[in-house]
Amino acid sequence: MNPPGLEHLLTCLRFPSVSTDSTRNADVRACAEWLLGKVREMGLTGELHETPGHPVLLAKNKHLVGRRTVLLYAHYDVQPAEPLGEWKTPAFEPTIRDGRIFCRGATDNKGQLMAHMQGLAETLAKHADLPVNLTLLFEGEEEIGSPNLKPFLEQHRDELKCDVVAISDTGMVAPGVGTFTYGLRGIACLEAKVHGPAIDLHSGIFGGAVANPVTAVARLSATLHDAEGRVMMDGFYDGVRPIADWERTAWAALGDGDAEMLELTGSPALFGEPGYTERERRWARPTAEVNGIGGGYQGEGSKTVIGREAFVKLSFRLVPDQNPDVILKRAEAHLRKHLPQGVRLEIKPGHTGMPYLMDPHSTLGTAAQRALKKVFGDKVALIREGGSIPIVQAFKDVLQADTLLLGLALPDCQAHAPNENFPIANFEAGVRLNQALLAELA
Ligand code: BES
Ligand code: MN
Repeated sequence: MNPPGLEHLLTCLRFPSVSTDSTRNADVRACAEWLLGKVREMGLTGELHETPGHPVLLAKNKHLVGRRTVLLYAHYDVQPAEPLGEWKTPAFEPTIRDGRIFCRGATDNKGQLMAHMQGLAETLAKHADLPVNLTLLFEGEEEIGSPNLKPFLEQHRDELKCDVVAISDTGMVAPGVGTFTYGLRGIACLEAKVHGPAIDLHSGIFGGAVANPVTAVARLSATLHDAEGRVMMDGFYDGVRPIADWERTAWAALGDGDAEMLELTGSPALFGEPGYTERERRWARPTAEVNGIGGGYQGEGSKTVIGREAFVKLSFRLVPDQNPDVILKRAEAHLRKHLPQGVRLEIKPGHTGMPYLMDPHSTLGTAAQRALKKVFGDKVALIREGGSIPIVQAFKDVLQADTLLLGLALPDCQAHAPNENFPIANFEAGVRLNQALLAELA
């Protein structure tokens, strides 16, 4: 038997709302419009707000004086589904196997978004109201760095005034373990292009006369780390807050993460900055990653050519108190300083997001922990996450509100990868979590 609301989640998943792909713009909008219909059906007042990019959905119940105001944020956009050949069933046709829904966006973030929707719909059907003043804010640009949401917050500051923000878009340490995420890493992206000759060249006729941009990009990328995995950019670790003793203890008590990490990643070995456990490295230490690199001939067989340009796409994950704009400046300086001879460098800064950290033992934090206990039982894991939700620190800066991150993503949910999936059990738990959280916050 399918739980109530599951059909609506499956409908939501069929919209290929890929925010980065402009050929999907109409699908992104159709998803927003469908959600608006659902929100109105359950009795909330809402509308879509246009932005220079994808629309923002804003909805509310009737706000009463003297009640807490909770802003519930989620994103209805998804990552691209490519490589399509790696999916066992079509990426935008939700398919249920072994109690899990397989589809792009199943976990990130539609399963979690629709669990909140179902929780609200049930409460409203039963009591004709919610225990709090609720503001729903659903955006369609999270996966591209929320470029238009901070200005939206600034423009609608008064309308969005709230006591606290709640988001389900983070992980659970294991199935059935209530997980409270009190910190996220920030992010800074950039793309570097290395230009060589004006045209592609025959590598026999011209090889030896000029620098090869692919070699230059490889050398440049290799300067980012030492052989042990420390980031070698000048000043990169400036301002990095040390991990608190209680955190080290709490995270170690989650058990030895190494075996699980080997299993989840399928890597031959773990690797990273010495002196830290894998959890500490992912949750509380900054990193530099090469997300893509290219140039030269990519086709079958060999082609003796010196391509005229090559590129590398970098992202840095950041922790308090690093600043993404400072890191981008340092990265540019680093790349210019280490640029091999004979080529020209062009740098395009990308999107940024601030890291986030709150006190999980605060009044709001403990309310969130009580809600988790109601749904999952007494053991609550207190963690930080390595992923980023750039708008979370903006909620703090613009609305002065802390964010409670109560996520339902399992370690093997395959977010951003082929065969993304979300257990039906997590959907049901999410419905109850929505109700428990609003009750506790009231
Ligand atoms: N839900 C994720 C972020 C996340 C994943 C937080 C796992 C904690 C644990 C979110 O949708 C996401 O993928 N964010 C991007 C943001 C980026 C594109 C600006 C990320 O972290 O790469
Ligand atoms: Mn994501």
